[in-house]
Order: sequence, then structure tokens, then C-alpha cells
Amino acid sequence: MLLLPDLYQVAGPSLSHSFDASAYLLPCGDEAYLIDCGTREGFELIVRNIEALGFNPGRVTRIYATHGHYDHVGGAALFRRQYASGLFLHALDAPQVENGDSVKTTAALLYGVEAEPIKTDGRISEGDTFTTDAGRWTVLHTPGHSPGSCCFVLEHVNGTRLLIAGDTLHGGCHEAIGSDIGIWKESLKKLTSLHFDYYHFGHVGAQLLCDADRRIASLAASFANYYSPWFKDFYRSYPY
Ligand SMILES: [Fe+2]
Repeated sequence: MLLLPDLYQVAGPSLSHSFDASAYLLPCGDEAYLIDCGTREGFELIVRNIEALGFNPGRVTRIYATHGHYDHVGGAALFRRQYASGLFLHALDAPQVENGDSVKTTAALLYGVEAEPIKTDGRISEGDTFTTDAGRWTVLHTPGHSPGSCCFVLEHVNGTRLLIAGDTLHGGCHEAIGSDIGIWKESLKKLTSLHFDYYHFGHVGAQLLCDADRRIASLAASFANYYSPWFKDFYRSYPY
């Protein structure tokens, strides 16, 4: 599904397996990168989605992860085996992926499956940049949902700015996966201090969400109220 020129969504509950979080295909010359890559269960369908868009999955040389949870990186070992794709993620979430920790990766906790140890190829950290056909990407370290959670910001060649938020927006909160509400609030402050035209996050359909600044500010204002981490105060209204 085309989100913006040279940026496609290839995984998510409405596009692949119900376990899969959003994953994105970023053509880059003769290569292509993924941001997140879904689960083992979704792998075959994600590959078919990439092919249906006219791309050879063998072009996928790199997978950049928003964080180390099963629904975002569980399929990375299959991409490595089939296409020699490398996996890059933040240092604070890397050990649980490399060790196949079924709790911290949420594999057992949320999906009832065993995680497998997945080799990683490098780290991403705050301020890292890379370029694809769509434009220039910058990594933001936004811990809170997990210690190594990151967002990716695209300055698109068409002049617009897109936030890929992973689970930093709308993600679940649990101490078993290292969530920290205080740290998460700081990350939301960081996001609301920046400008985005659109955003997209880990568990949403194939659509760009516009009016990003107002919506993200609204989310940040409703964060960590009552017993649900995203409960909205009664006097506020959602900008749907
Ligand atoms: Fe997550």
C-alpha cells in the first residue's frame, strides 16, 4: 500500500497476519530497506505484498527496527535466511532480540509463541540518519514503551515531514517489557516539540494520519491518566 511516493506499508493486521505490527518498505536505489518486518507468522504474506508492489524481496538489505518486540521484528530471522537482510536496532532492546527472550519481546506474553534468538547487525541511536528514494530519515530515541524504542522521521523529497512512531504512540505499558511512564512522558514531550505533517504508528491500518501536531499533542495530553495509559480526560475530545 502506497503511503507516500517511494514509501509503502507492507505489513499490519489489515495487510498481513493479525500478529504483525506495521512494517514499511523504503526503496533505495537497487536496494530496499524495511522499517520493522512483522512476525514469522506473517512472513510469507509480507513477502507477497512486497512482490505485489513490484519489488523483488531480495533487494531488502536492511531492516531498521522501531524496537525489539516480536510483532515488529519476529520475522527478521526469516528475512536473513532468505534474503540476507541485516537487522539494526537500538542497543537497549538488542539483547532481548539476540537472546530470544520470549517475555521481553512479548512473543509469549502477547502472542503465545516462543521467541527465537535473532542475530543483529548493528545499532541505531538518536540522531542517526540515512537516505532512501523517499528522502532523508532521522532516528529519534523515544524510550518509554520499551527502553530501546525509536521513532523514524522522514523529510520527504516532496517537502513534507512524516513520523513513523512504532509503539511510542498507542503502545502498551507493562513493567515486564520495561515500560516506564515517566521516561515515556519525556519522549512524548520531545515529539510534541517537533513538527510533523503526517504520522503513522505500529498498530493502525494503511493510512497516513494527517494533522499530526494536533493529534500527537492530544495523545500526549491524555497519556497515563487513570488506569489505561491512553485514557482521555472526560473534558477533552479526540480530534478524529
Ligand atoms: Fe511494542
